[in-house]
Amino acid sequence: MKNIPYGRQHITQQDIDAVSAVLQGDFLTQGPAVEQFENAFGQHVHAPHAVAVANGTAALHLCAMALDVKPGDKWLTTPISFVASGNCILYCGGQVDFVDIDPATLTMDLNQLEDKVKTGKYKGVIPVDFAGYPVRMDAVKSLADRYGLKIIEDACHAPGGYFTDEKEEIRYCGDGQYADLAIFSFHPVKHIACGEGGMVTGSKQSLVEKVKLLRTHGITRDPNKMHANHGGWYMEMQELGYNYRMPDVLCALGSSQLTRAEEGLVKRREIARRYSEAFAGLNLSFTHVPEGVGHAYHLYVITTTHRKQLYDFLREKGVFAQVHYIPMHTMPYYKNMGFKQGDFPKAEKYYEDCLSLPMYPSLSAEDQDYVIGLIKDFLQQH
Ligand SMILES: Cc1ncc(COP(=O)(O)O)c(C=O)c1O
Repeated sequence: MKNIPYGRQHITQQDIDAVSAVLQGDFLTQGPAVEQFENAFGQHVHAPHAVAVANGTAALHLCAMALDVKPGDKWLTTPISFVASGNCILYCGGQVDFVDIDPATLTMDLNQLEDKVKTGKYKGVIPVDFAGYPVRMDAVKSLADRYGLKIIEDACHAPGGYFTDEKEEIRYCGDGQYADLAIFSFHPVKHIACGEGGMVTGSKQSLVEKVKLLRTHGITRDPNKMHANHGGWYMEMQELGYNYRMPDVLCALGSSQLTRAEEGLVKRREIARRYSEAFAGLNLSFTHVPEGVGHAYHLYVITTTHRKQLYDFLREKGVFAQVHYIPMHTMPYYKNMGFKQGDFPKAEKYYEDCLSLPMYPSLSAEDQDYVIGLIKDFLQQH
């Protein structure tokens, strides 16, 4: 029987050689492969600075700390994201609230964002480029300027995604031009698969330096920043940080994967084009991508009122579609904070109907045709 997952990493001999070269070298953790990966990744997403960290969750936590989230501070995110997008604010003692989604893009509805931030209750916002669809960060920034908000862009799904801004310029997801900081994850189902790994990107040197300090216990060895210097061994812990480092071995894997990132994006977009072409006119919905927008297609999501039956039907035939995401505010932990079913109706309706279909660069046309054929068969029976 077929075994087609919704996402899958792709490891080549080149990746294995890159990792094995580090294993045979002098550094297993903070060696030269870290900076090489940071520079290459920064270039890939058009961000002036990039800091490699342990995973996407650590990246979010470090951004929240660098942006000074304090107990009681209220931040907004979307209910349709992985829970880490909200949890990072809770880690700092802050409070999370949500903005419902725009069903056309499945990302945060920016009109509803404005309604919320007008109240003056919020300190910041975490828009998520859900599935790889780029949030209009220029619009978020203009709200942020008007209402004094800080911005962390969760671009985990969108390396290589872009939109055209109000000045008609192409802006890449996570380029740090409009957001204060942005983050990425290198979890195996993501575009760049390292097992674990993450990146913080940005254009503001002082914020990026703060992230670097906090990534490694708040310890500095930079003589220009220390209060004293007792000798070559001397270092100072200046802030309460964490061990959120990404090791050399995984950074080498990341750099090797990056050499195929453009090719991977082309393949993802081609797979999406084939799905959209096949589904046009059928009784299901998918996201339409306007001119000037580059969807990064971490996920290809359809919505259908027969979602559960379709999920089960596909599973029986060896196709492991997935659901992204259970709305964050309906998680028991968030419900205990006062959120309830009905708070964000568009996100809840989306959750009832959504299904992420197989989407990864090594998905063969034959396997994709098999998936499409099954969905067509299913829709004929329902
Ligand atoms: C949107 C989003 N944010 C944050 C994360 C957290 O990343 P990680 O799993 O690397 O901690 C993920 C990935 O799982 C994600 O999809």
